[in-house]
Amino acid sequence: MSANPPKPAPTAEDIRARKGGEPIVSLTAYTTPMAQLMDAHCDFVLVGDSVGMVLHGLPSTLGVTMEMMILHGRAVARGLSRAMMVIDMPFGTYEESPAQAFRNAARLMAKTGAGAVKLEGGQHMADTIAFLVARGIPVMGHVGLTPQSINTLGGYRVQGRDDDGARVLADASAVAEAGAFAVVLEKVPQGLADRITAEVPIPTIGIGASAGCDGQVLVVDDMLGFFQAFKPKFVKRYADLGAQAEAAIATYAAEVRARTFPAAEHVFADTVPAKGAKQ
Ligand code: KIV
Repeated sequence: MSANPPKPAPTAEDIRARKGGEPIVSLTAYTTPMAQLMDAHCDFVLVGDSVGMVLHGLPSTLGVTMEMMILHGRAVARGLSRAMMVIDMPFGTYEESPAQAFRNAARLMAKTGAGAVKLEGGQHMADTIAFLVARGIPVMGHVGLTPQSINTLGGYRVQGRDDDGARVLADASAVAEAGAFAVVLEKVPQGLADRITAEVPIPTIGIGASAGCDGQVLVVDDMLGFFQAFKPKFVKRYADLGAQAEAAIATYAAEVRARTFPAAEHVFADTVPAKGAKQ
């Protein structure tokens, strides 16, 4: 038996207990290899419905389906042994009634092994969040800019400036009171994010919010420079892998056309090599 057995993945209650403590680290992931890379570094990994835009080329998150979330959730789960996995509920799978939300949340968790679901919306989703939590489904809230509502919000603009943040604060408080274990604050002014963090009793996870939040999340393809379609102000590019990948592909294409790839070390000899020699 190993002297140091691997630490079990944190639970929703472990994340809740981090309120006001060491910042909670999170990124989105949609595939096994990316989940493997972040497993040792993140407290939770979010299988976000941003997968629709980032990997499937959809114009928004509205076209994401349960089947897509289950497929990507299962892939991410295979790459995690240490971080918790949270999975997004897609648009149209939870808004109609608490019963609809329970049915789909239970399916997402059972099929993927996620430790919690995330759903968008504040005061109007409080009853649904309470219904899910009472029936064993940990819920992460998501208020401020809620991308599934862009058609009623009128776009991707900063939320909470018009009424001094009263609505976003009320939304975050309602989500916390309903029993959510944490809440994502997306694209809200820094001062408002700090005020919400001070006033709500659950961890706030910022994206375009404030370094004062209890944790941060970013879309991994944004921060690695893979997603080139646009770059929101709140994204810091920690790498430019999209440009590097394109340069590598261009070099490959040029070498194929020049017949310099494959080279001698990439091809097989016609005769069986002697024992111990390189294949
Ligand atoms: O889907 C997603 O990636 C998200 C993050 C932006 C928080 O919900």
